[in-house]
Amino acid sequence: MKYLPVNQHLFLYNRKNFVSILKPSSIAIFNANDEFPRSGDQTFVFKQNADFFYLTGIDQEQSILILFPDCPNTLYKEVLFLRQTSEHIAVWEGHKYTKEEAKQASGIESVFWLSEFNAILHSIINYAENIYINTNENDRFNFDVPYRDLRMLDKLRAQYPLHHYQRSAPIMRDLRVVKSEIEIELTKKACAITRDAFIRTLKFVKPGVAEYEIEAEITHEFLRQRATGHAYSPIIASGKNAIVLHYIDNNQVCKDGDVILFDFGAEYANYNADMSRSVPVSGRFTKRQRQVYDAVLKVMREATKLIVAGAVWNDYHDEVGKIMTAELIGLGLLNKHDVEKQDPKMPAYKKYFMHGTSHHLGLDVHDFASRYKPFEVGNILTCEPGIYIPQENLGIRLENNILITKDGNIDLMANIPIDGDEIELIMNS
Ligand code: GLY
Ligand code: MN
Ligand code: MN
Repeated sequence: MKYLPVNQHLFLYNRKNFVSILKPSSIAIFNANDEFPRSGDQTFVFKQNADFFYLTGIDQEQSILILFPDCPNTLYKEVLFLRQTSEHIAVWEGHKYTKEEAKQASGIESVFWLSEFNAILHSIINYAENIYINTNENDRFNFDVPYRDLRMLDKLRAQYPLHHYQRSAPIMRDLRVVKSEIEIELTKKACAITRDAFIRTLKFVKPGVAEYEIEAEITHEFLRQRATGHAYSPIIASGKNAIVLHYIDNNQVCKDGDVILFDFGAEYANYNADMSRSVPVSGRFTKRQRQVYDAVLKVMREATKLIVAGAVWNDYHDEVGKIMTAELIGLGLLNKHDVEKQDPKMPAYKKYFMHGTSHHLGLDVHDFASRYKPFEVGNILTCEPGIYIPQENLGIRLENNILITKDGNIDLMANIPIDGDEIELIMNS
């Protein structure tokens, strides 16, 4: 891992909260993510399962966690299983956790090699009534790819058919959405690295640079600051490319007179930043570009005020829609008549602002959370309005990451330049 060790109290705290919600006489089993074959004899770079990391801090393939708070053998209340390292693996693949290091990282005292998993599990599982398995219940996820937890569920059901099987996912969903101090610090770190990369791009951008050259600058800054890399495929979209919401080709040359839409964020210790900015290639917005920019900025500032505990998703989106509608009328993109005759299910503003304003952010960029629970203290949400005008080859999005506290909210990206004058000043300094 490139990142510095994470305070193990995060994982002790998370496990404590998780087991406190289990039914009596329950054993919970969590698996690391699969390693995915790439081609030939390679795998894709390993990415730990977010829930597994949340409970263990262990960032290594093939690991398994057992939590059994009522286990009659106290040695096995919390057990971590790791891939056994060897001289051969050390030579070919490099360092893997020793048992001692895994204890340090996770705060789990009982660490065994994987070869002992079946025997230890069998020795305790029949003292539990319930088996909790962590299926992927993300409502944005509908890929037909089996994963380790699901495959383990099949095997366990065959071997232990009379236990009661329970879902860990709803518990994880409610725990992960409320961020603790250490998680907030890690998110702030990801935001700070993202800020530095953005400032670097402001000094680098000029007519004639290619989008991929800008991407390279960002990646350089991320890696030199111990980010694992990008939180998601970065969007470096100049001119009309900004109209394509998920543009990731980043292969065009930036032209004088165009605006570039950036959407990138660093991943640090598996926590993510998610930022969007829009800047003029020449270092100066045209009058029209600046009008649209200021309209988006106004929506963002107004929307941010609404991100407070107790707010309800649909009401929040409706309110932001009204603010956006007023701005689009001001820009001459909609008129009052368009709004009067609009279908409430498909309001007129969606022609120019077709995506959501916010999503939860955390170990996943679109973090695991209920769409139906009101916002709570400890949530981190993005605020990301945009206006996309194909006929003007112009797309502008601004996106910051907002932490809800009991006294309102804190913009974790408040120190990343966003005012149009400030952007121009830095680009021309
Ligand atoms: N970068 C992904 C998003 O803004 O949701
Ligand atoms: Mn984004
Ligand atoms: Mn986002």
